[in-house]
Amino acid sequence: MANIQQTLIILKPDVIQRGIIGEVITRLEKRGLRIAAMELRQLPRETVEQHYDEHRERGFFNAVVSYMASGPVVTMVVEGADAIAQVRATAGSTNPLEATPGTIRHDFAMGIGRNIIHASANETDAAREVALFFKPEQVVSYTRAIDTWINE
Ligand code: CMP
Repeated sequence: MANIQQTLIILKPDVIQRGIIGEVITRLEKRGLRIAAMELRQLPRETVEQHYDEHRERGFFNAVVSYMASGPVVTMVVEGADAIAQVRATAGSTNPLEATPGTIRHDFAMGIGRNIIHASANETDAAREVALFFKPEQVVSYTRAIDTWINE
């Protein structure tokens, strides 16, 4: 029985400025993940601070908050079997320098301060982050005919 999960993704401001929204989303769709919610929006600093609350004491906190509030982002919920781990594997290591070729961060980024994509780390974070960015009625859970060819 597949472990169907939902996870929160943010395509960061560099993705929108560089015009690669479609290319990044294509990577996730080709993996077999379903898009359950998606919105382009400008995040207020307070929302970004809440999202990255666990990093408040880290040296990079102000930098990442400024980066994430510097322009529009695309927030998404994606769904699928083991979606949390699947998305993190597709995204690659947080530091693009350490990311494996073929992953999003390796293929589209060079610096940890411009690393393209955020993906929830675990089930607890995914539930909290999905609820921070989307109301329950905005998240659409569904299946596709092709899903049986992606996962048994
Ligand atoms: P993300 O996966 O969204 O989670 C925290 C973010 O902080 C990370 O991606 C990077 O965009 C940013 N960041 C900047 N510097 C660092 C660092 N030294 N270590 C971890 N994250 C960093």
